[in-house]
Amino acid sequence: MADRNDHVTNGEEHPEDHLDRALRPNNLNELIGQDQIKENLRILIEAAKLRSEALDHVLFYGPPGLGKTTLAHILATEMGVDIKVTSGPAIERAGDLAAILTNLHAGDILFIDEIHRLGKVVEEVLYPAMEDFSLDIVIGKGPAARSIRLKLPHFTVVGATTRLALVTSPLRARFGATYRLDYYDQDALIDIVQRGARLLKVDYSEDGVVKIANRSRGTPRVALRMLRRVRDYAQVRAEGKITGDVSEAALDLLNIDGQGLDDLDRRVLLCVIEKYNGGPVGLNTIAASVSEEPDTIMDVVEPYLMQLGYLERTSQGRQATRIAYQHLGIAFRDEKTDQQESLF
Ligand SMILES: Nc1ncnc2c1ncn2[C@@H]1O[C@H](COP(=O)(O)OP(=O)(O)OP(=O)(O)O)[C@@H](O)[C@H]1O
Ligand SMILES: [Mg+2]
Repeated sequence: MADRNDHVTNGEEHPEDHLDRALRPNNLNELIGQDQIKENLRILIEAAKLRSEALDHVLFYGPPGLGKTTLAHILATEMGVDIKVTSGPAIERAGDLAAILTNLHAGDILFIDEIHRLGKVVEEVLYPAMEDFSLDIVIGKGPAARSIRLKLPHFTVVGATTRLALVTSPLRARFGATYRLDYYDQDALIDIVQRGARLLKVDYSEDGVVKIANRSRGTPRVALRMLRRVRDYAQVRAEGKITGDVSEAALDLLNIDGQGLDDLDRRVLLCVIEKYNGGPVGLNTIAASVSEEPDTIMDVVEPYLMQLGYLERTSQGRQATRIAYQHLGIAFRDEKTDQQESLF
């Protein structure tokens, strides 16, 4: 679920895309955090280079904005190979995939974003391509049809998804390495915002940077986006420097609270608490109530609310926790729990 597109298939460029690229780490050393993944990738890269082989197929998964696309590009840079970027929904027919595959050179990386959205027929062409580097093509129609097998150069698929559960198991099995990206800790986020501020050549105080990092919901993309908005605010409403006060004022104005929750996060929590008495309530019901796509709620909103311990997924639906009530300043009214607690 990208809120900005990296696809070659999407020709439109957002005005902030060039800023985004300027801030994107170019190699493993520039990438902050995710130490274990970096170490694993270094070994993977080094081993492939030693043997002069293509990199094994790699799958990245985790919430949006944590660096899956960035890592795919870094792998290409570190291996010194070309990267071709596409996405699950962009490859509509088996022929589209065949065209892409036959244009790859040995060692090249094919980055497939949103790989959980590949169609079944396309996936079946991908299996032998990933496994045996061969492509089965059917020529002709009816009784005269015959299948020929093309050899492909040894290439690497790098897949990315926010929904590992929706990647079919035969596809998952074809990746030699699968890595889960997790939310970043405070130190890493501070480093990321600081690096961004230096690259944007904006003056900052430590306090100003920390305040942005703390509200960035553990996500580099959010941290960097907030940095740009705080920079705007600093230039227009202050003396251009990102201080603690400037960060706070700018983020308050954007309705981002002390825990990094934005309007949508709060609307979701309020919906569960006020309309459905704290839950449990189903995802689709919540989505309809707040007029959002269930996918957005599931990919963007819920993982962070669950990480904070504000929301739980139960078999009956989503449930708000006591600390969610506290955070929103609403009295907790779960009678069952109150009774249990009064026994102690
Ligand atoms: N470790 C990091 N250090 C510095 N910047 C980072 C890091 N990880 C990601 N970023 C920045 O955050 C932004 C989002 O990263 P990226 O596009 O790779 O996320 P993603 O996981 O692919 O998200 P999506 O699931 O939405 O496609 C990029 O602009 C990138 O420069
Ligand atoms: Mg991405």
